[in-house]
Amino acid sequence: MTSPKKLFIKTYGCQMNVYDSERMSEALGEQGYVATDTPDDADMILLNTCHIRERAAEKVYSELGRYKGLKEARPDLKIGVAGCVAQAEGAEIMRRQPLVDLVVGPQSYHRLPQMEAQVRTGVRALDTDFPEEDKFEALKARPRARRAPAAFLTVQEGCDKFCAFCVVPYTRGAEVSRPADRVLAEARDLVARGVREITLLGQNVNAYHGAGAGGDWSLARLIWALNDVDGLERIRFTTSHPNDMSDDLIEAHATCPKLMPYLHLPVQSGSDRILKRMNRSHTAESYLRLIERLRAARPDILMSGDFIVGFPEETEADFQATLDLIEAVGYGYAYTFKYSTRPGTPAADRAQVDEDVKDDRLQRLQALITRQQQAVQQSMVGRDLTVLFEKPGRMPGQMGGKSEYLHAVHVLAPEARPGDMARVRITESARNSLKGVLI
Ligand code: 5AD
Ligand code: SF4
Repeated sequence: MTSPKKLFIKTYGCQMNVYDSERMSEALGEQGYVATDTPDDADMILLNTCHIRERAAEKVYSELGRYKGLKEARPDLKIGVAGCVAQAEGAEIMRRQPLVDLVVGPQSYHRLPQMEAQVRTGVRALDTDFPEEDKFEALKARPRARRAPAAFLTVQEGCDKFCAFCVVPYTRGAEVSRPADRVLAEARDLVARGVREITLLGQNVNAYHGAGAGGDWSLARLIWALNDVDGLERIRFTTSHPNDMSDDLIEAHATCPKLMPYLHLPVQSGSDRILKRMNRSHTAESYLRLIERLRAARPDILMSGDFIVGFPEETEADFQATLDLIEAVGYGYAYTFKYSTRPGTPAADRAQVDEDVKDDRLQRLQALITRQQQAVQQSMVGRDLTVLFEKPGRMPGQMGGKSEYLHAVHVLAPEARPGDMARVRITESARNSLKGVLI
């Protein structure tokens, strides 16, 4: 018997890439590959890339450069680039980096096994099509291997919103929702393999409208159906757009027992002038009102957001409006970005903000966010939370897991195993996690 070939996948960017990497790994498993966690002994290296900001693509090129020696030492090593940089710059990558054998865009991952066979014959392969066939069906989870307690499940892909700064509508394509029965079947399979928490993924997940019994299902309807899956304990979803936060989804936060009190709802800016230029089609006020409704439904819901500083033409007053909005909301988590010019997007050609102004605003924004995050974490001390254990902690007998609110929690629990859930009294707030004791 020949020994299995080894596959090293490096994943950049969003959670959907994490999900896609798992699918690609399983698909190549069919070709006799097993995963390895180092490029040094790999027969194939796959970079699953992110195109959302400039430096991400540069990182890919420098990472590829690092594999030059490996490839010289072992000419049989195949190197592939997947993800959104592959989609956007496939031909350019092939031209600029001769050591790349294979380039595959996100909508063609189900074709990876054929592409692998092709590159094994020494012919380079490039596929950045948006094919009609059903990628998800073709990539359906194959081996019945046990899984970690928390898993991602893509239910929707692509974006029709065209925010003026964003490449996603171009790299991931138009919005597509998977049929509800397929999602439910995948969820049941995950649960059979040990999964207790599922995060439904989509670039615009709350715009989900997959075919289901009786017509298209909303995300709320899908969540309610998942709520009935025995053995599944927790449901989350990300990322949402404020304009698609429908009444039934808000209501689900009040009444659906397995839906966790956490919501990532990016607003990007607190200035209506900038929001308009961003093509966001909501205002700061409408966003704040939406959060009021969410909090009326679920008073303890923890809010998370994305913010961009230094969008073209952003003034100090615009930036101040962002700070004001953040003060008004009070976030548990937030992701902050300096605006990054993406060629081909509408904002790329507009008057850019100076780099040092962007740096200064980013620092001030991060200081405020850090203060809010720490305050929220501190407010957990003394509370009793439910923790889903995911893996052993660094100290002997310690387990690490997540609370309802997605905070990492470390607990001394020598008897506990990954997948167990326990009530925990929070005793301490550290920098990026909480500590607690079993009740
Ligand atoms: N520059 C900076 N941040 C961006 N994002 C998307 N495109 C850009 C860009 N060109 C951020 C947005 C989005 C998150 C995933 O990445 O905040 O919500
Ligand atoms: Fe990008 Fe806007 Fe679509 Fe989000 S909603 S993926 S920021 S275009």
